[in-house]
Amino acid sequence: MSQADLSEIQRVRDEAELLHDAESVARAVDDMARRIALELAHSNPLLICVLNGGLLLSAWLATRLDFPLQLDYAHVSRYRGTTRGGELEWIAHPRMPLKDRTLLLVDDIFDEGVTLASLVDDCRARGAREVRTAVLVRKQHERVATPLRPDFVGLTVPDRYVFGCGLDYRNYLRNLPAIYAVSGN
Ligand code: IMP
Ligand code: MG
Repeated sequence: MSQADLSEIQRVRDEAELLHDAESVARAVDDMARRIALELAHSNPLLICVLNGGLLLSAWLATRLDFPLQLDYAHVSRYRGTTRGGELEWIAHPRMPLKDRTLLLVDDIFDEGVTLASLVDDCRARGAREVRTAVLVRKQHERVATPLRPDFVGLTVPDRYVFGCGLDYRNYLRNLPAIYAVSGN
């Protein structure tokens, strides 16, 4: 990253439009955790953090879920805007045996749904008994590419490029505790 690139990141951050402040995000996560607890408290679930975007939500949820659960991760990356558009690259599969487990897949965003749908298929193929999904935000548009819908959604965002709370802008800005939209996008 050159200094010019870093200045661009800073400019995008400075000019961004705040969509959900840190307090709203925290309230949304509280509410998600309550709903998840109602459904999964007695299922001995395996919470699978979908890296990198699901990192923050996974940690925020895990500290709010006061029942027996285990943690693991999967790492996928979706090629976007290339000739291989839409294809998923698997960087790491979960290490824990999934057979007969109840899973909670935790990711940052449900956009077109390709990422989450592939993950759910993969987990089912590995013998999971039940696969539930949680995302911090759902993007509002009609381009959804799968019949799958996330079971637990924190907040909605308009059909714009958003970042913060695990969502990146050029692999930066994931660490911000609020959700922003890129200005003019
Ligand atoms: P999907 O497969 O179309 O649902 O895309 C989901 C993945 O695309 C997410 O896990 C993100 O990594 C990425 N993504 C989609 N929209 C945005 C956005 O607005 N900001 C940052 N990442 C995004
Ligand atoms: Mg992602």
